[in-house]
Amino acid sequence: MINKEVLKPTIIVIFGGSGDLNERKLTPAFYNLFLDKQMPEKFAIIGLGRTSFTDTKFRSMLAEGVNKFSRRGKIDKKEWANFAPNISYLQSDVFEQKDYQKLAKEIKKIEGEWGEHPNVLFYLAIAPGLIEPVAVNLGKAGICNDPDCSRIVVEKPFGHDLESAQKLNKLLTGIFDEKQIYRIDHYLGKEAVQNMLVFRFANVMFEPIWNRKYIEHVQMTVSETVGVGDRGGYYDKSGALKDMIQNHVLQLLCFVAMEPPVSFSANEIRSRKVDVLRAIRKYDTKEVFENTARGQYSKGWMKGDQVEGYREKDKVDPKSNTETFAAVKFHLDNWRWQNVPFYVRSGKRMPEKMSVITIQFRPVPHRIFPTGVAESLQPNRIIISINPATGIRIRFQAKQVGLNMRLGPEDMVFNYSDAYDTQQPEAYETLLHDVMTGDATLFMRSDEVEAAWEVVMPIINAWKNSPAEFPNYPANSWGPESAERLIAADGFHWITTPIKDGEK
Ligand code: BG6
Repeated sequence: MINKEVLKPTIIVIFGGSGDLNERKLTPAFYNLFLDKQMPEKFAIIGLGRTSFTDTKFRSMLAEGVNKFSRRGKIDKKEWANFAPNISYLQSDVFEQKDYQKLAKEIKKIEGEWGEHPNVLFYLAIAPGLIEPVAVNLGKAGICNDPDCSRIVVEKPFGHDLESAQKLNKLLTGIFDEKQIYRIDHYLGKEAVQNMLVFRFANVMFEPIWNRKYIEHVQMTVSETVGVGDRGGYYDKSGALKDMIQNHVLQLLCFVAMEPPVSFSANEIRSRKVDVLRAIRKYDTKEVFENTARGQYSKGWMKGDQVEGYREKDKVDPKSNTETFAAVKFHLDNWRWQNVPFYVRSGKRMPEKMSVITIQFRPVPHRIFPTGVAESLQPNRIIISINPATGIRIRFQAKQVGLNMRLGPEDMVFNYSDAYDTQQPEAYETLLHDVMTGDATLFMRSDEVEAAWEVVMPIINAWKNSPAEFPNYPANSWGPESAERLIAADGFHWITTPIKDGEK
């Protein structure tokens, strides 16, 4: 993000090279960085996988991926012809030590051709169960033991509970230095999320009111219209709490709630986030049920199409107790946030895709305007919109035009697409660039991941031990009644006014 080294020659090794993530996200991101002249002058991308591919076949498969998934649309043939020769494919089996030797040889060969010692980046775009054999075999092959030049990128989910995350951390830090490990959470690569640091800490006017004295509550909605697609097998063992809240949502919460860092260094920022996670109250079983709601969607209609219920999906247990929706009211036990509830919710098959954070301020301490003129007086509100459009909405009161004194809420909107001509980089572009330049600010440190698991573990356990009455919300609705009750019990309601595309 800011703590960047200059780009050195880089070899990128992608485990799971023939998989979905590389096709949809990684190669389109590398290609866009290339178009933006943000790739190192010398780079090589080596895809690894079990399927047999020639380099040519592999490149054309990836070209198709770029055509389908790149923010810039179809490839520019001339640019692709310059980019593609940097890509190669090595058929290999993650369990076979000899294949790591083959990889080591290939790396040495490229290094020899370049005549320079490159950075080597190992990207683990593989199923969680394969992280261990890959890490161990990389260690054994001795191709990652230069802590300054080799880096390993690990995708979420990082563990499936606290214990497995601790085990994974122990394993990885036994082979790599912490500074070599980049635990990715793609939400942190989103422009709006990074902008939260700027909004809070590069302006003087928000920080003095960013506390319990002025803020009544904070809420976050991260909703999706999609269901679980063909990821039923993975999702049924995960659920909304592990898939979205433990990582993306808690990360957003950290950015809202953290104390001002002393500097913009990766460790300083990450330490302030860990402080937030540690301050979140850990619930006992009774408190879990008082402060959470869970849901699972049944079939319904979305934009004119009938969609299946969750339990009807392939590879999902027909009696599944996995939640596709989770809402939690968090309390932060620290000076700044005492008694300011943080309501978060995330779910699939909801009416709109949005990621929105609302900071709801308290009413004015003394009302001078008579009720008649200020019927629609509303306390201030700041909405940070990550999706569908990126921006910030500040709601304040204004006198309505006319001879009489009438008040009403108005919005000041800062919409990225309106403010800047350039397209936003995709989250993966930002994050991959950060890995290549050695900037770990937007990646999770081992203690951070574990602290996040500590927050959700009581909920996971309580829910596991007490099966729910599922399904309990139809597709195309905002989740179960219990989620409305959770927030309504405190006199509030969920707010769904992100910035929309084109809004000024
Ligand atoms: C992923 C989850 O981490 O984030 C998916 O595993 C989810 O289930 C996705 O769909 C949402 O990401 P985004 O960027 O589309 O909001």
